[in-house]
Amino acid sequence: MDTLSGAARIDGKAFATGLVQRIASEVVRIREESGATPGLAVVLVGEDPASAIYVNAKRRETLAAGMESFAFHLPVSVTQAELMALLDDLNSDSRVNGILVQLPLPAHLDARAVINAIAPDKDVDGFHVVNAGRLFTGQPSLVPCTPLGCLMLLKNRLGDLTGMKAVVIGKSNIVGKPMAQLLLAENCTVTVAHIQTRNIADLCRTAEILVVAAGSPHLVRGDWVKPGAVVIDVGINRVERDGRSRIVGDVAFEECGHAAAITPVPGGVGPMTIACLLENTLTAWRWQNLPRSQARDTQ
Ligand code: GUN
Repeated sequence: MDTLSGAARIDGKAFATGLVQRIASEVVRIREESGATPGLAVVLVGEDPASAIYVNAKRRETLAAGMESFAFHLPVSVTQAELMALLDDLNSDSRVNGILVQLPLPAHLDARAVINAIAPDKDVDGFHVVNAGRLFTGQPSLVPCTPLGCLMLLKNRLGDLTGMKAVVIGKSNIVGKPMAQLLLAENCTVTVAHIQTRNIADLCRTAEILVVAAGSPHLVRGDWVKPGAVVIDVGINRVERDGRSRIVGDVAFEECGHAAAITPVPGGVGPMTIACLLENTLTAWRWQNLPRSQARDTQ
């Protein structure tokens, strides 16, 4: 970590690199012990350029970790039935331990039905209703990758989170809601704020842990942040400034020198998301290949 006028910069890129190295070692050990290679299938529908970039990055990292990568690129005209048939095949293919369907899907497809057609124990995005329910009820679950990465960074920085006051801005199924559940499971006192929340700045000023997933560039100003707080910025917003396009977070990073620590954008949470996808693929492999009690103990 280096410093920003007092606040430590949480280096998510370095943490993610270390995590991927540990995953790669585990993949080597699995191959030596059982001859198996954990595998991840990624399904992309259509030609959305941003989705294609994400999918390529996921595929590249999967291979770099020594895992098997199965890529499916379907035309935008694919029908719901055709996509469901592919998922049926992947669900029953023992070489495929994790399945991810890149979102968003074209409007004619029912994304909720597609997600819920993935076998819950292969749902490495953690979006299936069964995994959401497992997380909600404190059962071992495949957890959405971005909040899982945020939690790892928080625990690495703070250790035990018990009793801490956490505020999460954002109530999406992908980040805000699972983040709140994860912090609750760590015995934090959690408040979820969102676009309709009144006095949101005052609420944020009470937070020892502030996780921001609002999708709004520089929504959180320095004076919203309690001195000594740890701030996790999930935002990835493309903005035009001085005629140039740049990526900024949901937090005004330069105004947060009084925080104890803060994630930069880029280089904070972003790199953790793919690393956690690989971590989930390993967890899914264990669930599918080790005796159930042993597999769920080692996650
Ligand atoms: N699109 C943007 N982020 C994600 C993600 O984490 N998983 C999937 N499946 N699609 C996405």
